[in-house]
Amino acid sequence: MERKRWYKDMVFYQIWPRSFKDGNGDGMGDLWGVLEKLDYIKSLGCDGIWFSPIYPSPGADCGYDIADYMDIAEEFGGMEAFKKVLDGVHERGMKLIMDLVVNHTSDEHEWFEKSRRRIEPYTDYYIWRPARADGKLPNNWDSNFEGSAWTWDDVRGEYYLHLFAVKQPDLNMDNPLVREEVKKILRFWLDMGVDGFREDVITYISKAEGLPDDHLFPIYKGMPKYNHGPHIHEYLAEFKRDVFDHYDCFTLAEAPLVWPKQALKYIDEEKGQIDMMIQFQCQCADCLFTDYMPTKFSLVRMKKAFSDWQYKLEGRAWNMLYMENHDHPRIISRYGSEKYRTESGKAIAAAYLFQKGTPFLYQGQEIGMTNWRPADADMYEDVQTRYYYAHSNLNKSHKERLEKLWRSSRDSARTPVQWDGSENAGFTTGKPWFYVNENYKEVNVAAQENDPASLLNFYRKAIALRKSLPVVRHGSYKEHFPLDNKLYVYSREMEGQKILVVCSFSYKCVDMKIPKGFDMDKAKLILQSYPMAAGKTLRPYETRVYLWE
Ligand code: GLC
Ligand code: CA
Repeated sequence: MERKRWYKDMVFYQIWPRSFKDGNGDGMGDLWGVLEKLDYIKSLGCDGIWFSPIYPSPGADCGYDIADYMDIAEEFGGMEAFKKVLDGVHERGMKLIMDLVVNHTSDEHEWFEKSRRRIEPYTDYYIWRPARADGKLPNNWDSNFEGSAWTWDDVRGEYYLHLFAVKQPDLNMDNPLVREEVKKILRFWLDMGVDGFREDVITYISKAEGLPDDHLFPIYKGMPKYNHGPHIHEYLAEFKRDVFDHYDCFTLAEAPLVWPKQALKYIDEEKGQIDMMIQFQCQCADCLFTDYMPTKFSLVRMKKAFSDWQYKLEGRAWNMLYMENHDHPRIISRYGSEKYRTESGKAIAAAYLFQKGTPFLYQGQEIGMTNWRPADADMYEDVQTRYYYAHSNLNKSHKERLEKLWRSSRDSARTPVQWDGSENAGFTTGKPWFYVNENYKEVNVAAQENDPASLLNFYRKAIALRKSLPVVRHGSYKEHFPLDNKLYVYSREMEGQKILVVCSFSYKCVDMKIPKGFDMDKAKLILQSYPMAAGKTLRPYETRVYLWE
């Protein structure tokens, strides 16, 4: 089937279902809540929804530990509510993509239960290894969340591999039967009418032959032996050939530690196996590789990451653009300023929404939700955060350890969406499953809905411009003044149409800078972040977009 690539004209909204909206008052977000808010999502100009996992799951990693791939969890409303949502999405001319988490399952998945008992054909569905003669673990790999990647299973009398939590055993993708299971799952949802998938840590599914030890230096662990493994392109091509090519759908691959050159092997429009990639460089302007190794925010680093992907993918592949998701703390608290919350939120929005690619928004980003800072570490829910807290910085003070979590934990961005200023931020009429950020009375959808100067309405305007101007979707990208550490200036150009985006990332006033060849007398100011444009000086985090046509 000829690919239509409709995703290039879209803007997606990511729903992390537990914290989006509770529809039945039990305190947990669900699909009834989503149904209530479809018009809101559409009102943003978003025409696609990505659901973080909504399948049955014991919840060891908030749904990324799946116990049944072909059902919807009862607490979210089950299959009945899901079908209503899917219809509601399609009736509004929108699309819906699911999270495909097949690097691992839950240890409560039926396959694992059978595999640990060596019941055929499940015996080799997972990666099992005996203890080594010297009593050591099968290899030195660390999991991403909970210490060693190997856990002993008494039932089977062997170790199993888990690159994430102990309750997330890795599937053995080298087993053709497992790949057939994946295809069955894909067809199941596509046949139901789902429009595509976001593929969780998909570059990890093929592990190095023989599972050799990893480098001992932590820095080299940046390239673990399970990322971009020997059969990765072969397996992805197989999924494409056997399934995706037969449907009008698209695929988005999450890829930790990938740079444009390598990304092209996956997403080149002629030779690749998937359509778009979630890269992490744009998340590393204030840290080294992960949020747990924070550094000072560097605008130059952020710009370099963006431009690198823009330039290197040009004409060959399509960028996925994002600033936030459920795995990182809130972006205003990191790249912007909580003091200038609205202003910096607008600069951040314009910094990515006018680039070439398909933008994604994460729930609450559009109203400028900021990091949650609990009073105590035991208030955290996330498995990664809890393990980190229990095992790291033990010689530091309680305050220092807690502040580290405020900066680094994924839970900073997983608090309920703040719908209004009423109790529990209008998220639920019951007792919320998780803490609501204290700033909800000030920061919420209702307060911004009718304020033309709000961040929410800035997102709406920016997205509407994106949709109405072909140059934003298809024009070529150019960055100006790349070494300037206060301004991000970039332009887009296409057959007689040109835009210039100027975003200040400074809390002080700075001089406006216009690149050569941009005639400001002929420019039309089409978007601005302050109610009234001032002249040559940009106020804190001021942002403007100009058009020539
Ligand atoms: C991905 C998900 C993250 C999850 C992990 C393991 O990185 O985005 O939330 O914990 O994979 O599935
Ligand atoms: Ca509920």
